[in-house]
Amino acid sequence: MAQPRILILGAPGAGKGTQSQKITEEFGVDHVTTGDALRANKDMDISDMDTEYDTPREYMDQGELVPDAVVNAIVDEALSQADGFVLDGYPRNLEQAEELDDMTDLDVVLYLDVSEEELVHRLTGRRMDPETGDIYHVEYNPPEDPEVEARLEQRDDDTEETVKERLRVYRENTEPVIEHYEEQGDLERVDGEQAPDEVWEDVKATIEDAA
Ligand code: AP5
Repeated sequence: MAQPRILILGAPGAGKGTQSQKITEEFGVDHVTTGDALRANKDMDISDMDTEYDTPREYMDQGELVPDAVVNAIVDEALSQADGFVLDGYPRNLEQAEELDDMTDLDVVLYLDVSEEELVHRLTGRRMDPETGDIYHVEYNPPEDPEVEARLEQRDDDTEETVKERLRVYRENTEPVIEHYEEQGDLERVDGEQAPDEVWEDVKATIEDAA
């Protein structure tokens, strides 16, 4: 197959970013992630798009979804330039899923399945290296280099209160997206509660089977 077009679904903290990084290295595809794109443009002026708030920041820091018009435009532009991709963080609701159906065909739809208790633990312990973008966890995956450890940062929306709101928004808006792909018979469920390398073995095998 040409470069694969992969969608990775899962709740906040399910490990989409962690596995997407491995997918890009192994399969040479682009990582298209709405979360990173929005974080890089948090203070973009969106007031002319008839939105409640004037910037993405106000939605993100409360754990709410950024309006569809903003996110659809970001994804459409990124996918039109990609030769094979792993799409992470989109679609977040049924309207976005229908937009995506019109934008492109997908070769694999992965769903990382993780319990809610584990999600809260992973997100509140997550840290990011601002220099490399690498993802760590204070307990599960701490960096070996003390210099890296000293510069780690916590994401603004990884506080316990915002994490709970993100999970509520996920249950309400994004679980129907999982059902949408399940009904189409396209959903490949992966046990995301295993260790990262074991999850990776299953993810890699699933993508190779689809090739
Ligand atoms: P976004 O950045 O997309 O965040 P998210 O979906 O909430 O997902 P995360 O990045 O938090 O989690 P992940 O699944 O990537 O987990 P990770 O691999 O880091 O979105 C942020 C915000 O942007 C949204 O709230 C919204 O406001 C806005 N937004 C984004 N997209 C939008 C859209 N389409 N529409 C509207 N608004 C949108 O792993 C988590 C932690 O667990 C890490 O510490 C990691 O080391 C650890 N870990 C990973 N795998 C394992 C494992 N197997 N075992 C143990 N630990 C593990």
